[in-house]
Formats: sequence, structure tokens, C-alpha cells
Amino acid sequence: MAVLQIRHMGNPVLRKKAKPVSELTGEIDKLIEDMTETMYINQGLGLSATQVGVLKRIIVYDNVEAGYGMDPQALMNPEIVAAEGIVKDEEGCLSIPEIKDIVERSEKITLTGIDRSGKDVKIEIEGLLARIIQHEIDHLDGILFVDRLGAVKKNLALSRWKKVKKELEAEKSA
Ligand code: NI
Repeated sequence: MAVLQIRHMGNPVLRKKAKPVSELTGEIDKLIEDMTETMYINQGLGLSATQVGVLKRIIVYDNVEAGYGMDPQALMNPEIVAAEGIVKDEEGCLSIPEIKDIVERSEKITLTGIDRSGKDVKIEIEGLLARIIQHEIDHLDGILFVDRLGAVKKNLALSRWKKVKKELEAEKSA
């Protein structure tokens, strides 16, 4: 396994639309393993292939209901086919470190996709897990959680991010 480099907001790859995966190849299997390791080492709840610079519709996430780190999951071509309810809660993103804000999401979603073993699945999920997956699917469409904030909050988040980004760059070059 390998830890991959996570792209930060400002990198154009995060704004691109990812392409569907046609089959579970050895290469994709390896990518999923590396993405999972990258997610856990960065203490994330989920990660999309887009964030590691690969424009394929693949997400990994932690099954928070099983306890952190206990049940890593992956989905290819995830698609929300039904959604109900609205909930607000705090979100962050490994591509926008240190920035957090309250985001509105569907409470419950029905999801289709291909699981880790290459099988077509249809699952119903709610709560935090539903939030994580909606956030990751957004990444596959080039959407970041700050895009879902109102204009004032978004601008605030962007200016905070500008500062954080500068600090991170200074750390890297020090
Ligand atoms: Ni994210």
C-alpha cells in the first residue's frame, strides 16, 4: 500500500468531473487500497479518487457505525437514486484542511454502485454515513462542500482557507 498525495483546494483537478469505472481491474483494486490507507493516515472519514488526482468515479469511506477504522468501504460509480429529509451538520474536507462549516445534506439516501468485490449494490443509508457519501460523490462532480454554503459563509471560508494554505506552503518550504 502507499500513501497518496491529497490535492488541496485551488488545484484544478478538484473541479473536474470524474469518469465512470467500467470494471474492477487490478489497477483499480490497488488504487482503492492506497486511497483507504491515505484516508486513514489523514484521519478522514471518506476520500474520493479525484482528491488524489485520479478522475475515476471511486470513493472510499469509513463505516462509522462499526467504529473508526474497523470497516473500510469502497464504492465505484456511486449514484444517489433517492433522497429524503434535510439535515444540517458540520463538515470538513481533507482537500481544505482546518476549514469547517455547517452544510445541509439529505438525511437519508438510496445509493447504487459497485462494491469492493465488483458486485452491483443498492443500499439505503442515513445519518453521518449518508453525509460522508454525499460529500464524496460531490467530489466526483467537481463540487466542494464550501460551494454548498451561502455566499457570505462561502467567502469567509475561502478567505480563511487562503490563510491556512499560505501557512501550509510556508511549512512545506521551511
Ligand atoms: Ni472532501
